[in-house]
Amino acid sequence: MSPPIIETEALTKRFGSRVAIREVVLSVPAGTCFGFLGPNGAGKTTLIRMLLALARPSAGVARVRGIDVASDPVGALRRVGGMVEEPRFYPYMTGRQNLEAWAAALDADARRRIPAVLAQVGLEARGGERVSRYSLGMRQRLGVARALLSDPELLILDEPSNGLDPAGIAEFRQMIRGLVDREGRTVFISSHLLDEVERICDAVAIVNNGAVMVQGTMRELIEAGETGIEVDCDDVARALGILHGLPGVTGVRTKEGGRLLAMGSTAREAAIGITRALVQAGVGVASVSRYEESLEQRYLEITAGATPSTEGVFPRVAAPPPTGPPMPPPPPPAAR
Ligand SMILES: Nc1ncnc2c1ncn2[C@@H]1O[C@H](COP(=O)(O)OP(=O)(O)OP(=O)(O)O)[C@@H](O)[C@H]1O
Ligand SMILES: [Mg+2]
Repeated sequence: MSPPIIETEALTKRFGSRVAIREVVLSVPAGTCFGFLGPNGAGKTTLIRMLLALARPSAGVARVRGIDVASDPVGALRRVGGMVEEPRFYPYMTGRQNLEAWAAALDADARRRIPAVLAQVGLEARGGERVSRYSLGMRQRLGVARALLSDPELLILDEPSNGLDPAGIAEFRQMIRGLVDREGRTVFISSHLLDEVERICDAVAIVNNGAVMVQGTMRELIEAGETGIEVDCDDVARALGILHGLPGVTGVRTKEGGRLLAMGSTAREAAIGITRALVQAGVGVASVSRYEESLEQRYLEITAGATPSTEGVFPRVAAPPPTGPPMPPPPPPAAR
């Protein structure tokens, strides 16, 4: 794993008695697209504002590119592009003029990059129009273009697909993946759109009530949820006893339609072992399939009120209400 490009230690932000960000420990590896996911009011914008030196932490440290943002914002944010909430522009100026005004505050190359960044966000044909005539989605694109002007190694975007139409979201996704995969940049995006995060991001942190509940790769997040092999067979009672005794099966519960879930590994070998054991015992097997929770199920579980992780590992949070309670193994057959 590459060294972290964003790191926070016990980062905290209070507004009076309200704690908007609570002792957040975050580590974002360079060269990835990292999603910061959480419901409205979770603290996403507040954390991003601290990363971009737009707000001062009440306690703790935020480091970007290894540099403490609060003590050296210029050093930390060199070659970092950001967009927070709805980007603001001079409405009476054109998109291009707005970028020129912004570029003037950056290095000499920034002005030369204007045509390229306008093309990158799909605004090359409309760059000569006043921003007051732009749609919300176009202003959002211009915001991303502005964030790209500094040729950033790190791009921090707060809900960037706000206001984009489905085609715009798909284009945006390709653009972001291109920045990461082809150009080696790091992109940190906040969102409450699960679908978007699932498709764009390599890794995520889920934040709720100001606390990071879990963080890690998408795969780790899914694997920390409930996984197993789902079985549809003709003798649930016998199958229960058999499944309970198999190595690697951590528990068994019933699911809708009378199917059984053998919790644990989803590996092919596990499915083969389960099928073989059932068939050998004379249980008829209709189907055997892998089961894992969707990102949406995981997100809803995690944001429904689990305790936060301070170690950056995935805790196993309360399982969703099962269709049937976990079942104990049946008693051993009475001695004949
Ligand atoms: N300047 C402020 N003064 C007081 N409270 C604030 C301020 N800014 C944010 N908050 C509070 O901090 C909490 C986190 O807000 P924040 O804007 O970071 O949430 P968010 O995750 O970005 O939400 P959304 O998805 O709606 O954009 C909220 O309870 C909000 O009301
Ligand atoms: Mg926000």
